[in-house]
Amino acid sequence: MRLPTGAELWPIAIFTVIFILLVDLMHRRQRWTARYPPGPMPWPVLGNLLHMDFQNMPAGFQKLRGRYGDLFSLQLASESVVVLNGLTALREALVKHSEDTADRPPLHFNDQLGFGPRSQGVVLARYGPAWRQQRRFSVSTMRHFGLGKKSLEQWVTEEARCLCAAFADHTGHPFSPNTLLDKAVCNVIASLLYACRFEYDDPRFIRLLGLLKETLKEEAGFLPMFLNVFPMLLRIPGLVGKVFPGKRAFVTMLDELLAEHKTTWDPTQPPRDLTDAFLAEVEKAKGNPESSFNDENLRTVVGDLFSAGMVTTSTTLSWALMLMILHPDVQRRVQQEIDEVIGQVQCPEMADQARMPYTNAVIHEVQRFADILPLGVPHKTSRDIELQGFLIPKGTTLITNLSSALKDGTVWEKPLCFHPEHFLDAQGHFVKHEAFMPFSAGRRSCLGEPLARMELFLFFTCLLQRFSISVPDGQPQPSDHGVFRALTTPCPYQLCALPR
Ligand code: HEM
Repeated sequence: MRLPTGAELWPIAIFTVIFILLVDLMHRRQRWTARYPPGPMPWPVLGNLLHMDFQNMPAGFQKLRGRYGDLFSLQLASESVVVLNGLTALREALVKHSEDTADRPPLHFNDQLGFGPRSQGVVLARYGPAWRQQRRFSVSTMRHFGLGKKSLEQWVTEEARCLCAAFADHTGHPFSPNTLLDKAVCNVIASLLYACRFEYDDPRFIRLLGLLKETLKEEAGFLPMFLNVFPMLLRIPGLVGKVFPGKRAFVTMLDELLAEHKTTWDPTQPPRDLTDAFLAEVEKAKGNPESSFNDENLRTVVGDLFSAGMVTTSTTLSWALMLMILHPDVQRRVQQEIDEVIGQVQCPEMADQARMPYTNAVIHEVQRFADILPLGVPHKTSRDIELQGFLIPKGTTLITNLSSALKDGTVWEKPLCFHPEHFLDAQGHFVKHEAFMPFSAGRRSCLGEPLARMELFLFFTCLLQRFSISVPDGQPQPSDHGVFRALTTPCPYQLCALPR
């Protein structure tokens, strides 16, 4: 067959451009419907991709909020997005319309990385029976192990002791605490999932942590978002493996750990951990094609709990230590409270928390100020809804700007400063705030919140009971600005931990 050449190509090119523009018009037609939230004018095909500041999305959204208000819309190629800002809009969407906003937008590249209709895990699962089944299972299993003989609290306390020992090994030398914090928090998840902890110098553990971090890095930023809004690019052979090598290797490692775990599993004995409990459900579900209990989903659920539970908690702890360096007066008051309530001999327990309002306020203020997941995890509408007088059609992606509640100037006295008094009344009692929503709210709110709270309290109080944290002599003070990506991490810093 002869290929078209020269002048014959023009009609084909014009037809293709018109076709693309028509498809593009179809995607953005809802912008013209009355009561759709305003937003910057999208470009053909790319939409507002060029309006996004991928290095610091929260700051970019703050500017757009100033221009368009609490609800504004964006078009990311073919995807319609509405960004929710401020406590009122966030609560209306996540709590009042909890069910209608509980879906997640698909991440197309995951389909080639072990994610399927019956193996969606929890974090990115579409709102439906499979998500409900796995969310219920994860929550009830965590509760079960929180109450069992070897309770999660004991695991965390033991791990805090190991973390303190590792800090003590660095006495007199400045060091970055981040890797040790990652290891301690990762071991808590490992104890929940595999009833075991890894030694900090175990090469397999170091590899697991490295792959977990690589996976999170691979999923953040421009390229994955670009591939997701232009999913036809994922058909290029070998592309997914090239863009997500860490995620591929992480999935393989989870399979290895699962195969190993199965060799010691005894179904006649009570479950040792979440993996055992899941395997028992897989047995029960044999022959039921509707069930989400299968080996592929076990891998996805385990991967979800590792990735959702590890970096979030360790990053918050890293912020906590850095803020203690920057606010030595706050550190001294926490230590004074520890000495009065727990003393220097006993290990901290969760029961102590109720008698430690200042420490509790400091931990809450660390979470508010650090604002580690400023944009939460995207949601999607499963029905047309009305929000703040605007109409949001079914199938719209919602970005929850949690940062806008955590730093809301109408709620917090000093929104941009570290100020533990935000959580204390005039008598020094701990006070809660509706705008404190680092774990989000509604049906998809963080299911690991009780575990995260336990870890933050026990690790933080154990460390400050044993050590005074300061900046090494001659080194500049760390900066409290943080590095914004999907996750806000503190700027790299080193500390000195002196035994008290
Ligand atoms: C300081 C620590 C943590 C913070 C700030 C945090 C925050 C969040 C946020 C903002 C979401 C998204 C909620 C939404 O979509 O509206 C989320 C979801 C989730 N988190 Fe956490 N999280 C933390 C620790 C943990 C831990 C320790 C675990 C479990 C071991 C965990 C497991 C999950 C899961 C499974 C989801 C998905 C829930 C669903 O889609 O139904 N998180 N988390």
